[in-house]
Amino acid sequence: MVNLESLEDLFVYTLNKLRDAESVIIDALPKMVDAAHSEELKEGFQQHLRQSQQQLARLDDVMDNLGYSPIDVTCKAMRALVDECEEIIDSPGDPDVKDAALIAAAQSVEHYEIAGYGTVRTFARQLGYDEAADLLQETLNQEGDTDKKLTRLAEGQACRRQLVHQRHQRRSRAKITRRESNARQKGTPATGWTALSGKSDTSGATTRRPGVNSNGFRRGLTPRRSRFS
Ligand SMILES: [Fe+2]
Repeated sequence: MVNLESLEDLFVYTLNKLRDAESVIIDALPKMVDAAHSEELKEGFQQHLRQSQQQLARLDDVMDNLGYSPIDVTCKAMRALVDECEEIIDSPGDPDVKDAALIAAAQSVEHYEIAGYGTVRTFARQLGYDEAADLLQETLNQEGDTDKKLTRLAEGQACRRQLVHQRHQRRSRAKITRRESNARQKGTPATGWTALSGKSDTSGATTRRPGVNSNGFRRGLTPRRSRFS
């Protein structure tokens, strides 16, 4: 439990919380590098790892220059954000979709860091620690640049996701066609919409099942009249 009696206390507490946040993301980033599918994203995470190590050292410099020693502060928010990244890493799925999820999770991390560094930089200015404020501003600029790079990667990923979606649709259509073809050969009913309608989307031929009329309703059954008609 920290004692927050003054802005100085809050400044030191926030610096230490950011130290913990940087340490947590430094531990997590190598796993994100391994999990990333695209080379650009791997490179992006590697660069983020190098910058995070630099940013941690910069926080130590800020505290050292002001005569503060590090204290134990746990950044629960960063741990939760990293848990989300690890959940994505451990999930099965399409590699391009997982990359998109990793980018989104990494941007959540960036936005949290941007908020934290913006706050602590302002505290430094208010306390008259201009040199510390300038160092913290350097980190804030790096975090902003990383966020923009992630946005560009996400935009590139959106094109890939469109391709994944089209591939998924083609596979689904092929599966339905195969099922219909097998059903016709065996003389057994297909399942789903085609079973009721008797329509085929491949040959244009109608393979109406006995007992089903041209509208796709079982003979003897008429559609329920709408209560609004
Ligand atoms: Fe950082």
